[in-house]
Order: sequence, then structure tokens, then C-alpha cells
Amino acid sequence: MDVRPEQADSPLAMSAALLRDYRFGLRVAEQGHVVSVGDGVAWIEGLPSAAMEEMLLMEDGSRAMVYHLTQRMVGAILLRQMPALTAGTAVHPSGLRLTIPVGDPLIGRVVDPLGAPLDAKPAPHCTSRRLLDGPAPPIVARDTVHRPLYTGNKIVDTMIPIGQGQRQLILGDTGTGKSTLALDTVIAQQGRNVFCVVVLIGQNRATVVETIEALQAHGALAHSVVVVAEATASPGLKFLAPYAGCAIAEHWMHMGRNTLVIYDDLTTHAQAYRELSLLLRHPPGREAYPGDVFHIHARLLERSTCLSAGAGGGSMTALPLAETELGEIAAFIPTNLISITDGQLYLDHGLFAGGFLPAIDIRKSVSRIGGKAQHPRIKEEAGRIKLDFLQFLELETFTRFGGRLEAETARKIHRGRVLRKLLLQDKRDPKSIEFQLTWLIAYNEGLLERMPLERIDEALERLQRVLAGGTLAVGSGRARWVEEIGAALRNLAGDP
Ligand SMILES: Nc1ncnc2c1ncn2[C@@H]1O[C@H](COP(=O)(O)OP(=O)(O)OP(=O)(O)O)[C@@H](O)[C@H]1O
Ligand SMILES: [Mg+2]
Repeated sequence: MDVRPEQADSPLAMSAALLRDYRFGLRVAEQGHVVSVGDGVAWIEGLPSAAMEEMLLMEDGSRAMVYHLTQRMVGAILLRQMPALTAGTAVHPSGLRLTIPVGDPLIGRVVDPLGAPLDAKPAPHCTSRRLLDGPAPPIVARDTVHRPLYTGNKIVDTMIPIGQGQRQLILGDTGTGKSTLALDTVIAQQGRNVFCVVVLIGQNRATVVETIEALQAHGALAHSVVVVAEATASPGLKFLAPYAGCAIAEHWMHMGRNTLVIYDDLTTHAQAYRELSLLLRHPPGREAYPGDVFHIHARLLERSTCLSAGAGGGSMTALPLAETELGEIAAFIPTNLISITDGQLYLDHGLFAGGFLPAIDIRKSVSRIGGKAQHPRIKEEAGRIKLDFLQFLELETFTRFGGRLEAETARKIHRGRVLRKLLLQDKRDPKSIEFQLTWLIAYNEGLLERMPLERIDEALERLQRVLAGGTLAVGSGRARWVEEIGAALRNLAGDP
């Protein structure tokens, strides 16, 4: 029987396909039966030719995916479980791997990892489907990361820049602002022609609703899809959620578009996979995770890339999130993810508690490839800022215990404090790249050092107004920028 992927889900379409392709003759079909079912997995007997990741159709309408093969039985992850599913239910192999509907009708929608709508609207009418676990683009189709992806965040865009096609990990303890930073990046893509996929794994409903409302309130749902496997979803759906999000973005990437995927978060994903693996009796390894937990994340993140012009030039940037405990970035899952990604943004609990928001710890954060994609003007201005800031932090620690400071040291410390104040940023307030250039030039020219710290906010407001005039562009000469910024900040300077 020739069942096309798009028909696999609907019993009516399946019957139609059966009738259309019906030919008289002898045929052998396999039919197994459920031996036991529970905790999101089913054990099935009587399917000797079942293949890994093959979809199984149960006679009561349940769906499962083969994920463990033994000589007598197969272990399957339940994707849809009907109340009538019990031991003895007949099971038919579909001969197909799992696919998900993809394409433009998904924009603005909230779907589950199988593509079913969760927003009380009709199912999106997609004409294409894509394998959930498809292969990563081959090396020859890839290009180096060379275009910037602006996050709207002052620290990231200037000191730890991200490029389109990069995989940048966001990690930190719980409640340090990881989701906020990722979501702000999605909001910042407005008008930049970047299609976003937000994958929420194992979050409670209140957080999911809050996220969707935030996207909607800032007009970001118009260029995004949200894939949700809530905390109460089966471990199978939580496991598949990032692959579903990746497949949706991949479709657009292969059409030559730029995409951004947020995986919130991969620690929960690894835990769902650990649960499944233990239920399916895979041998446990470190922290009871199965040995291939590294592989499942690498396989996912390798699908993010920047395609070469010959392959359409599309890109998929990935921002996976991971949770640390007590700031321990050397734990199993965080170190695995750090080694797979192209850099990390580490959010620190101490900085958060001290009111430095976003709480990005610049010492522990790095972007290994984003520098190549940074705009030359920003790169030129931001070149020394990171080093300056790190030096200031060290100096501040050394001088914390009082004593008289030399004038030069006191000046350096004040300059560092000005920079720290400049880097503060509220949530849901993405900054344009022109604004980044404005404050960088103002800082580098020393225009902000002459004023007391309390006036920095006012100075930033004035800088924003310089841009509102619309006379400055990133391409304008530096002298013009300095002149206009200087004029805007006049009368603001006082004694530090
Ligand atoms: N830049 C910011 N300005 C103001 N508030 C912020 C900022 N960043 C984060 N917050 C606040 O900090 C709190 C925690 O943020 P968030 O939920 O993003 O953290 P998280 O690391 O994703 O937490 P979890 O691990 O629980 O998912 C939220 O109430 C959020 O509004
Ligand atoms: Mg979060």
C-alpha cells in the first residue's frame, strides 16, 4: 500500500488510499498486539520487522513510535494514547517515520509536537510535511556564519555577538532570566524577516500562557510559531518537541529564509529522554542518563546552520536553554551542551540578586564564531569594551576594602561603573543596532564619564532622541555621530 506521509494521520484518507491502490493477490501483513502499556510507553509483541522510529497505528486510534527493539518485543513511545488502549490491542506497523506539517500556515499558531493545534483554531492547512528527525544539511551545503543576528540586547550585540546560523547556549540557574532573554530575542526580530519557532518543553500552563501573551502583546506572534509540550504532556511528546520545532524551521531554512529556534529548555528535554530510556530499559550511565543523551542533542543542534548561496542561503539560528544547579556549569548536561554549541551566555544568580539585569556574566560568556558576523562599525567601537569591563571588575574587587585610590584608578573605576550602568536593560525592550552604536560612541568618546551615575538613564534617553531625528545611519561618518551625540548630551555633564 502506498500511503503518503500526509495521509498517515487520517483514517479516512488511509482507507481511500487503500481502496485506490487495491489489487487482488496474496499479501502478507504483520499485526502485533500490545503486551503492556503505562507511563507513556508500550511493549508490543508480534512485529518482527518493525524498524527503529517507525510509526505504529493501534486499532483504538492510539499512535506510537518504535524506540527499542528486542528479539521478542518492541518498546514504543506513545504519541497519542486513547483511553481504550490496553494489553491485547492490535497494532499495525505503518512503514513510515514520523512527520509533521510545516509551512506558512503555521505562522502565528500554537501547536503540539505532532502539529495539532492548541490554540482553539482549526488545524493549520499545510501542504508539506517534514520528517521530525531528518538529516542535518551536508557539509558542502553549509556556509560559515557571516551575517549578524541582532538580539536587541546591549551586552550580547556588542560584546558576545551572535550570527545567523549560530548555536548559542543560554544557561543559568532557575529564575535568572534565561527565558526572558530568549523571548526578547524573538521580539527583537520584528521587521527583520527572521521566522521564529519557540519550543516550550515541560513548562506549566501558566508560564506557557504568559509566554504566548508576551509574544502577542509585542507583535512577535506574527512571525513566530510556538510548539508546546506542557509539563503534563507524555514524556514522548516532551522528547519530540525540539525535533518538531527544528523541522518547522528547517522547512523555511531550505526555502532560503532566516529562522531562529528557541529550545526552552534542553535540561527538561534530557530528563524526559532519561525517563523514556529507563522505561525502555536502556542501560543508564552518568546521573542515570542513557549513554546517547549527548548524541540526541548533537543531532538536534547540528541541523542548525547557515546554508551556502548555492543551497538557497537560508539559516537556522538556535538558542538552546539549559538549567544549572547552584551555578555548576560543569554538570553533565551543561558541559555536553557547551561542547556542542558555538558559545554560551551564562546568567548568574549573584548578578541577578544584585540587580544587574540582564544577569549575563560577561566573564563566563563567549561567542566563538559570532565576531565574524558582527557589523564592522559595531566591532570597531566594541572592540575594547569587553576587556575594559573585565579589568574594571577585577580592579573593583581589589579596591573593595577601602584605602586611598590614585586619581587614575578612581577614574578607571568610575568609567567601569558608568559602563555597568549603561549595560542595564529592562525586559521586552530590544534596542536597535543604531542605538547600540550611539551609546558605544558616546562611551568611547568619554562623553558619559563626566556625569554622575544617576544621570546615565537621562543620557540614554537623550541618545534615543538623537536617533528619533532619523538623520543618522550606521553608514554615516563617525565625526557626524560624535557631533550629534555631543550636542544631545550637552548640559548633562556635572562633576562625577
Ligand atoms: N532584564 C530584565 N529586567 C527585568 N526583569 C527581568 C529581566 N530578566 C528577567 N527578569 C525577571 O526575572 C524573572 C525570572 O526570569 P525567567 O523566567 O526568564 O527566568 P528563567 O531562568 O527562565 O527561569 P526558569 O529556570 O524558572 O525557567 C522573571 O520574573 C522576569 O520577569
Ligand atoms: Mg524559563
